[in-house]
Amino acid sequence: MRILAHISDLHFGRLNPGAPPALRASIAASGADVVVVSGDLTQRARAREFAAARRFLDSLSVPWIVVPGNHDVPLYDIFSRWLNPLGRYRQYISDDVEPFYADREIAVLGINTARSLTFKNGRINRDQVRRGCALLGGCADTVTRIIVTHHPFDLPATNGHDEVVGRASMAIEGFARCRVDLILSGHLHHSQTGATTLRYGDTGYSAVLVQAGTATSSRQRTELNSYNVISIDRPRLSIDRMVWEDQSGAFAVTGSDHFRLAPLGWARSANTAEPGM
Ligand SMILES: [Fe+2]
Ligand SMILES: [Fe+2]
Repeated sequence: MRILAHISDLHFGRLNPGAPPALRASIAASGADVVVVSGDLTQRARAREFAAARRFLDSLSVPWIVVPGNHDVPLYDIFSRWLNPLGRYRQYISDDVEPFYADREIAVLGINTARSLTFKNGRINRDQVRRGCALLGGCADTVTRIIVTHHPFDLPATNGHDEVVGRASMAIEGFARCRVDLILSGHLHHSQTGATTLRYGDTGYSAVLVQAGTATSSRQRTELNSYNVISIDRPRLSIDRMVWEDQSGAFAVTGSDHFRLAPLGWARSANTAEPGM
C-alpha cells in the first residue's frame, strides 16, 4: 500500500497564512509516503516566493515530486518569460521539470504543461506522452502508473471542454495504451475525481482523473483550501478530500471517493473496503 498527499496551487505570495503549518501537520498525520505537487507554487514567480515555497517543501518530512504551473512562469518580466521562463523554478525548486519517482508499488512521472505564452490552458505534446509511456510502460504490471500535470484533464460540469489542457484527447489515448492508472492535476482551484471514460469515452483502459483544489492560497475561487490523500492498494484506490476548517485551523476529511481496478481500467466503486467488490 502507498499513500500520496496530492497538493496543488500553493501560491506562495498570496497565502492563507494559517494554511501552510496546518497542511504540514496534516500531511505528517496522513502517513504519506510521497507528496505530489501539481504546480503553481508561487503567485508571481518571484524569487522570494520560490524561496518560501522551497522552505515549505523542505519542511515536510516526506519526499516530494513537483511540476511547475503557469504562475511559476513570470508574467510581467517579458525578458525572463521568453528567454528562460522556468529559470527561477529551476533555481529554487528543481532543475528537473519532469521528474520521475518509482518504487515497488508506484511510479510517478511529472509532465510540464506550462508554456510561455499562447496556450492559456497549458499544453501537452506527443513527445511528452511518448516519454511517459516509455518510462511507465516499462514498469511491472503490479506497479500503479501515475502522471502529474498542472493543467487539468477533467473539469467541473459548468466549464467548457476547451478548458482542458491542450491536446488532452491525444494524451489520454496514448496514456491508455500504456495503462496509466492515475492522472493528478490542479490549476482550477477545484477538487474533483472521475474516470477518463466519462469525458473521453472508451479508450481501452480507464484511468482515474484527480483534481486538487488550492492547498494554501487565499484565492480560493469557489471552495476552501483543500488537498487529497490518495491510498493505493491494488486493486483498490481511495481519495480522501481534506478541507481547511476555519474554526479549528486544521484540515479535516470531508468525503472519500473509491475506485476499483477491472480488466479495462478503473471504475468508481461504493467503498474500497467492502469485501468481494
Ligand atoms: Fe493556481
Ligand atoms: Fe494555474
